[in-house]
Amino acid sequence: MTKRDLITIEDLTDQEIEEILDLADAMLAGARERVCAEKIMATLFYEPSTRTRLSFEAAMQRLGGSVISCPDMKFSSAAKGESIADTARVVSSYADILVVRHYWDGAAQAMAEYADVPVINAGDGSHEHPTQTLCDLYTLKKEKGYLKGLTVVICGDLKHGRTIHSLIYALARFGVHVVTLAAGGLELPHYVLERLQREHHYGLAPVSSEDLHAVFTETDAIYLTPDRPHQLALFTQVDGTIQTRLQKMAAGLKFDAFYVTRRQKERIKGGSTESGADYPRIGENFLRERRFKDTVIMHPLPRVDELSHEVDRDRRGIYFKQAAYGVPVRMALLQFLFDALRKGAVRAVVKREALYESREPLGALCSNGNCVTRTESASSRPRFELLFTGPGGALILRCFYCDHQFKVRYVGHAKSRRYCPYDITLEDTVRDWLKRDELAIFDSIKQAEELGYEPYRSGPQRTIMGEAQIRAALEQISEQILEESEDLDSLLVLGIRTKGSILALRIARELEKRCGRKIEVGEIEVYGPGDDLRRLSPADGEPETPRVKDRSIILVDDVIHTGRTVKSALSIIFKCGRPRSVRLAVLIDRGHREVPVKPNYVGKHIPSSERERVRVKLREVEHDEKDKVIIYSIISPDNSDQRSALSAPADAKS
Ligand code: CP
Repeated sequence: MTKRDLITIEDLTDQEIEEILDLADAMLAGARERVCAEKIMATLFYEPSTRTRLSFEAAMQRLGGSVISCPDMKFSSAAKGESIADTARVVSSYADILVVRHYWDGAAQAMAEYADVPVINAGDGSHEHPTQTLCDLYTLKKEKGYLKGLTVVICGDLKHGRTIHSLIYALARFGVHVVTLAAGGLELPHYVLERLQREHHYGLAPVSSEDLHAVFTETDAIYLTPDRPHQLALFTQVDGTIQTRLQKMAAGLKFDAFYVTRRQKERIKGGSTESGADYPRIGENFLRERRFKDTVIMHPLPRVDELSHEVDRDRRGIYFKQAAYGVPVRMALLQFLFDALRKGAVRAVVKREALYESREPLGALCSNGNCVTRTESASSRPRFELLFTGPGGALILRCFYCDHQFKVRYVGHAKSRRYCPYDITLEDTVRDWLKRDELAIFDSIKQAEELGYEPYRSGPQRTIMGEAQIRAALEQISEQILEESEDLDSLLVLGIRTKGSILALRIARELEKRCGRKIEVGEIEVYGPGDDLRRLSPADGEPETPRVKDRSIILVDDVIHTGRTVKSALSIIFKCGRPRSVRLAVLIDRGHREVPVKPNYVGKHIPSSERERVRVKLREVEHDEKDKVIIYSIISPDNSDQRSALSAPADAKS
């Protein structure tokens, strides 16, 4: 059966949105056919809600349907560790439609992939809240009579506000001018701005107070990012200079609506660091300003202190009406989706190009730590849209689940097992590999080499350490560790997977020989989305995750160069607990650190350039080979030899 989900506002065409708003009008007028009789809606809310949940439940009941729910997902099997994928599979066999709210970005999309019935996103992390946008558009249209040409000021926490992200895309589509007033540090994320520009041709045009009027009349849409004094001027007590600047800037602009939002403190790591003094607020001052006499005030609610209760008594405060429209709008949406299901109407908007999904067990991960692909890999696999339009021709990955974007650093050819840094000259080659499902994308050289990929073209290899030297270096490191370890009971040797783990086991063996006791060894997976720490030895049936709290940790890796891998490993360790100390042991130190990390124990210092590669080959991974360390140079990707190598990947040999 073809189903129709609503995950982002982009899942609806403009025409469909208008159809739903018209249907909401009919619902409000009392046209309540029992279109959902015999239908069951399940509400799965992993985060608190008043309006969205209850208005959905009221809407379903008004249409003759019924509702099943968990009063609190903490009392569902999620508390026992059930994945969202399994929950979606199971509940979709009990209900005809799922309404999902989750604290992870992209969770609704992940659940939609496992559910056999339509899934509606009722808010996923900081990503989107498309049904709130339908309510917002309906309210604006009802109040103002039309959308195109209105000017809406969106203010508050634009970074984490999911209602804002969905709304701003929709406003752009309907030709509404948008002025943004972000609280300090909570500006619109880059990925939202980029999408506004790329998909909706909404120009980012920071406008000075002097030329604001000219830009306003000459362009179809204004995108304005005022600086902090403007925010203060608009919302709180201001000094005379700012007030004058503001008046000049605002002259000629008619603000039709202010859309106010609260600070999303639950999404700000470590709580809010801002004092709150400069957070945009609407109160008495706003109401007294003549130029705001016809400006309505909207708020998705709940409010905290950014919207004064004095506004409740003013005709311009329409946020309770906005919340009330939640029922007819969601009735209209339910009818629309069930109609689509009956007609077998597939999603009308399919904008995304072919997605990239790594065929390798390792590969680029979404840069957003709250993305479902990072938080629950069992329910989703990283998938990305490739954008060849980054600054300077950079290749950008856009996460299919949460829309976050980041730059590709290394690309590989899966058949020839070769990799190289990405640059603009490789665009056609990469498109071709993508088409043939032969593309691999890596976050780092280490990741590529973990999978046995080699650089595309390299110079002759030179062995700089042999088996005996490696053994001697590890013995020396072990002796030094022992000399500096006061409490062997607290010692934990942690290797960075894969070669760091092998070296950690060898170092632990040396330590055991010298001190005559068992040393605990673990490994860290710096590229894994979960289960980052594992015990390797002793394997005595104890829990698999070694304890790091209050331990004296020796972190081990084969080579240190930029220091970024070690930094990732340290953040994993500190995420798991606060150790007593962390000391770093590496077989090779190449120098040239990008982050301030200094190894305590070094087997050999080999200062080497960006164009050189140092590889540690260990018999455990290389099989029949002996241990050795080799060095070679990489031939530049802008070199013509490199270009020809890329066009004939299967023949490329170093
Ligand atoms: N606007 C909104 O999403 O409110 P709830 O969190 O109460 O559902």
